[in-house]
Amino acid sequence: MTNLSGFYKLNAEERLNLIKKKYSLSKEEVEILKNTGALSISTADRMIENVVSTFHLPFALANNFVINGKEYLIPMVLEEPSVVAAACKAAKLSLPAGFTSDADEPVMIGQIQIMGIKDTENAKKMFEEKKAEILQIAKTYAVQIEKFGGGIKALNARVLESIRGKIFLVEFDVDVRDAMGANTINTILEGVAPSIIQFIGGTIRLRILSNLAVKRKVRAKVIWKKELIGEDGVEGVLDGYALAASDIFRCSTHNKGIMNGIDAVGIATGNDWRAVEAGAHSYASLNGYKPLTHYEKNKEGDLVGSIELPLPVGTIGGAINTNPLSKIALKILGVKSARELAMAMACVGLANNFAALLALSTTGIQKGHMKLHAKNIAVLAGASTPEEIDSVTEVLGENKNFSLDFAKQTLEKVRGSK
Ligand code: MEV
Repeated sequence: MTNLSGFYKLNAEERLNLIKKKYSLSKEEVEILKNTGALSISTADRMIENVVSTFHLPFALANNFVINGKEYLIPMVLEEPSVVAAACKAAKLSLPAGFTSDADEPVMIGQIQIMGIKDTENAKKMFEEKKAEILQIAKTYAVQIEKFGGGIKALNARVLESIRGKIFLVEFDVDVRDAMGANTINTILEGVAPSIIQFIGGTIRLRILSNLAVKRKVRAKVIWKKELIGEDGVEGVLDGYALAASDIFRCSTHNKGIMNGIDAVGIATGNDWRAVEAGAHSYASLNGYKPLTHYEKNKEGDLVGSIELPLPVGTIGGAINTNPLSKIALKILGVKSARELAMAMACVGLANNFAALLALSTTGIQKGHMKLHAKNIAVLAGASTPEEIDSVTEVLGENKNFSLDFAKQTLEKVRGSK
């Protein structure tokens, strides 16, 4: 099984046995994967407030991904049918070359809002004069991240006009290494802010990171050969992309399809997917809301797909350490850094977008969706063996009738015909 081809044909238990061997998962890790209650109530109770239970979602692995020459099995957590299958299909169609990807250094921006400064020109002058001192003080709050090779990279200030008068905005660039960075940045901001107003006056208001992580972008690229996807496939994707590039109503859904994949990996790996969403959509809006992906035809007539977006994600800290499943997800994914995680996420986003465009512009997506839906209905109707499920699913699909009653009647007939 190269890169676990045929993975989808196995049942969940067989898949688990296979990855158990491939990733040398410990007995405890296998138990966590088997047991949906891996996140204990007591751990959950320490994560957020007012906890009464934990919530479970399907955890799947997307295969066929080759990124920068390395094979990946990518954990995805989500409730929507077809997304994992679509990612696997798009990745398979990119083989043998697969994707190339690169990511910026993990630099996040943090902002301190200072209000009530009358002479902002003079404040700016004082800020520049005291900059070295402010940096020294800020560094005392960055000791931990410096130990990991990160730290403060830049410090600047600008003045904004607002509905509440002038805002003096201090901005720090911080290399947060393999963390998402929210805690690192916010600690620095809250720590240093009182010293800044001692130098320049004013009242401290917001001290928070920006999710528009423009200094932490990731890019991915892939060529889908026309021999594999057909000339009409190439043209179809290009037409679908043209619509997204010209119309915000389509563009919203286009980018949603990208985030289907990106968020699913984010959730599996314990990342803050709302931060990822906020960053992605604000980035898409920088010059009017635009697609996060780009498609063109090369001179051979193949389809070249690419993606660029900021991805504020980490492999350490936050929920990653507390949720045992996230740790296993990262182990299976096998990434060595937050940058590598971001690369895998970008490739999945691009794969999902391509698969959606290919399906939407040719056969449509309902066929695939309904197939899974039919399978669910077959099980709800009582089909219990793989043969029964397959037979009922097939009849529902053929008749385009997905009602539970029809599924029950079909199941009776299937059982009667044996
Ligand atoms: C559904 O979750 C995602 C799609 O709507 C994306 C798209 O239209 O490109 C299929």
